[in-house]
Amino acid sequence: MSTASGSHAARLDRARGLRSDYCGELGLRDVNREVVLCGWVARRREHGEHLAFVDLRDRTGIIQCVVDGAADLRNEYVIRVTGTVMARSDDTINTDLTTGHVELKQCTVEILNIAEPPVFPIADRESGPSVDENLRLRHRYLDLRRDKMQKNLKTRARVNTAIRTAMDAQGFTEVETPMLMPSTPEGAREFVVPSRQSPGSFYALPQSPQLFKQLLMVAGLDRYYQIARCMRDEDLRADRQFEFTQLDAEMSFVTQEDVLDCISEAVLAAAEAVTGSRPMTVIPRMTWTDAMETYGSDKPDVRFEMRLVELTDVFANTEAKVFQSPSVKGLRLPGGAELTRNRIDQLTDLVKSWGAKGLAWFKVKEGGEVDGPVAKFMGADELSAVLAKMQAEPGDLLFFQAGDKDPVRTILGQLRNELGRPPVYEGGLNFLWIVDFPMFHGTKDDGTPAPAHHAFTHPHVDDVDMLETDPFGVRAQAYDLTLNGWELGSGSIRIHKPDLQQRIFNLLGISPEQAQQRFGFFLNPFKYGAPPHGGFAFGIDRLVAILAGEENIREIIAFPKTQSGLDPMTNAPTTITDKQLNELGLRTLPPKA
Ligand code: AMO
Ligand code: AMP
Repeated sequence: MSTASGSHAARLDRARGLRSDYCGELGLRDVNREVVLCGWVARRREHGEHLAFVDLRDRTGIIQCVVDGAADLRNEYVIRVTGTVMARSDDTINTDLTTGHVELKQCTVEILNIAEPPVFPIADRESGPSVDENLRLRHRYLDLRRDKMQKNLKTRARVNTAIRTAMDAQGFTEVETPMLMPSTPEGAREFVVPSRQSPGSFYALPQSPQLFKQLLMVAGLDRYYQIARCMRDEDLRADRQFEFTQLDAEMSFVTQEDVLDCISEAVLAAAEAVTGSRPMTVIPRMTWTDAMETYGSDKPDVRFEMRLVELTDVFANTEAKVFQSPSVKGLRLPGGAELTRNRIDQLTDLVKSWGAKGLAWFKVKEGGEVDGPVAKFMGADELSAVLAKMQAEPGDLLFFQAGDKDPVRTILGQLRNELGRPPVYEGGLNFLWIVDFPMFHGTKDDGTPAPAHHAFTHPHVDDVDMLETDPFGVRAQAYDLTLNGWELGSGSIRIHKPDLQQRIFNLLGISPEQAQQRFGFFLNPFKYGAPPHGGFAFGIDRLVAILAGEENIREIIAFPKTQSGLDPMTNAPTTITDKQLNELGLRTLPPKA
């Protein structure tokens, strides 16, 4: 039998520690209660000779305390206040605060700790983007006191919980995989860790749990997941950090459909946990080919239209030199005739920085007249075909790219984003699966085909015979999940037969001997009964950023690195002592001049 003091409610009460209540939870229903609160002084305003209004802040919000003799209190002092909750008079109600109908009176204050003046204001109204990011990161513990950052971290925690619940409910077992492992062929550059016990040898930090999760399938775990920390030594961007977190999953005896279903459930549950509802019941799909042809991207932002228009046929016999090329596509900017020449010149420079030879364009005027440098090169038939195909209307600006197929579509795809992309917090949550990726896309420096996903991806079963004869025509059983133009995650059905795996390695220029040497530990187990399997991983940082309406994943990571990979708070990376180097059997070279 449970006693009152052993009840859940009493245990929760005890967990409140030095206080009876949290600041932000008080309201009219608490009037006349004596409460004990703990927190930070957010602001102090004098009120007459002795009295001061002290705004007390904790992680739930702010409440106003009327304090007699607050002369010692400074911003960010840590205090404990005992007082009585009272209703405010009508003319002093503050609708900006959730606790704005009440205040704490007859307060006694205990100073738990003093504080130096904060290096930037904590209140969101005064700080936010105007504070230099380096300063924010150097004092991240102060930055994280801000309301917005607290909300972001809570959103992140809520997403993690929702994902765990969804994966558990679908029968997945959470398993942790090693952080210290050998080097693997996953694509990005690895971080390495020197071994003290085996001087001269190194561990690699995982770029992802890919190989271990496949071995868990060989082991018969059947359905694995992990909220996995991953490390990649790549150039940092708004959506990339050295360290990031994936929802990583793998399943045995499944088809692509099963993987898409389970992952859809996890991301939709996460979205629901943050927004209160699911943005859709089923996540729509698009083939990779359609995405590239119509949006010029394998992560199309479908929040806005502006599709690329295929015009190669129109210019099949053209006299215009610019359009005499294997591929021509157009992009229509509705209302774009308003753009200044200056802006168009800027756009031209931009596409050139992406590798374009130039940017052809013209404006469409009333009565079907056109105006722009390339209009004169087009024959009358070509012009009217272009206007019809692009459904041009007066006031539009039409852009064109001519060249090889791949660059034409990716350059126009980037231009489309430049011209039309809304801010991250607008336009809802447009999850979209991209399916039917090719096996290989482009070539590596040594001329071998580059895997579009990774080396363990199973080719489409109908295309296996074409591997050696037409590798670039082979479809993969690989799929991506995108959200509002961001790549959220990738996955594939894997190769589970050693001979097929070696055929792929051969194409990638990896001999059986090299394969054995580099990842024999991964390949040999496949001789012992590997089930057919497949899986997926999506970036939790990216998902949370979009759900929180943030353009940069640094805003939803507690302690991120700067764009140049530094931590201004801890000063990492740092040098280590000669003693440490000796122990590791290492010697460093002098810094490059
Ligand atoms: P992939 O390499 O596509 O696939 O990674 C999956 C997802 O992880 C996120 N991500 C990152 N997020 C932040 N910073 C980074 N540097 C970073 N790199 C990747 C992205 C990306 O879509 N093992 C495979 C998955 C599989 O096949 O199951 C993998 O890691 O959101
Ligand atoms: P040019 O004949 O090189 O002077 O180019 C005429 C116009 O076509 C200029 O506006 C160029 O920016 C543009 N242009 C040149 N090459 C290409 C290309 N491959 N695709 C699209 N526009 C181009």
